[in-house]
Amino acid sequence: MFVTFFAAVGALQSPPRAYGDTADGVQPPADSVGSASTDSSDTSGSAESEAPPAPAPPRVPPPAKAFGHLETGKGIFESTCLPCHGANAEGNKDIGAPALNRQEPWYLLAQLRKFRGGIRGAKDDDIGGQMMAPMAMALADEQAMLDVAVYVASLEGEVPARTLRGDRAAGERTFKMICAACHGANGAGRPEIRTPALAGQADWYLVGQLTKFRRGLRGYHDLDISGMQMRGMAAALSTDKAVVDVASYIASMAQ
Ligand code: HEC
Ligand code: HEC
Repeated sequence: MFVTFFAAVGALQSPPRAYGDTADGVQPPADSVGSASTDSSDTSGSAESEAPPAPAPPRVPPPAKAFGHLETGKGIFESTCLPCHGANAEGNKDIGAPALNRQEPWYLLAQLRKFRGGIRGAKDDDIGGQMMAPMAMALADEQAMLDVAVYVASLEGEVPARTLRGDRAAGERTFKMICAACHGANGAGRPEIRTPALAGQADWYLVGQLTKFRRGLRGYHDLDISGMQMRGMAAALSTDKAVVDVASYIASMAQ
């Protein structure tokens, strides 16, 4: 229980920083900020200048541990993830495994944490989620998740083949009206507000995830703030046709 709780809280607290430098809450060294004010008080001749000047705090980089290791990530990916997600993380429709190679590491890490913490992929009807969750749980620790996230984000692959022929013009209207504000006009995602890239993802996966959000199979957990936010947006798509239309449009953006 506690593990679940902390894993989930961790997922929510991590700011959207590329390369997962927050995997274990490591922040940029505060001393690089603090030293500036120390310097100015030294030269201002204030009362504190009587005291021996404090030695400048060492400007150390965050511990190496806070960064992903590509080589380790490659090893993990090839032994664990590749069979389902493909050699370039281009996805596999037969398995229902999405393309991962257009997401930034922070998003991959956040999703791995959610799967691991039971706040995504834990519902009985969520076949894909139930396939993926044990994979995230099998990773050794935060560092392993970070390593593999950084490696996956370094991969490049073909844009997934289109499988749907929805009404793209209708989908475009919906996208511009509802989705673009958060996911960006080009569907590339907006890391500063924690939204993933959509362009370049397979249309069938977009439909699958939007359907999960609409059915409450994703974004169902109290601690899943970003998932709940998206669930509310998916509810605005009132018909299955609207879902297919918007997915068809999104898929066309990366062609
Ligand atoms: C047994 C097949 C399988 C394996 C092995 C597997 N995955 Fe997955 N993965 C899936 C499926 C299926 C989904 C879609 C889940 C859903 O439908 O919500 C998924 C989804 C994901 C997602 C969510 C992406 C998104 O945009 O929603 C991430 C991240 C991910 N996998 C990473 C990994 C990593 C990293 C590994 C290796 C440690 C891995 N997967 C191993 C099947 C697999
Ligand atoms: C209020 C901001 C917001 C709006 C508007 C919004 N989204 Fe999202 N969306 C998010 C967030 C945040 C996530 C990440 C959810 C998570 O962390 O699990 C997300 C995730 C998704 C995902 C899952 C992608 C993946 O790979 O896991 C899809 C698909 C998606 N959005 C499609 C849409 C579509 C289509 C629209 C318009 C109908 C839309 N979104 C509107 C915020 C938004």
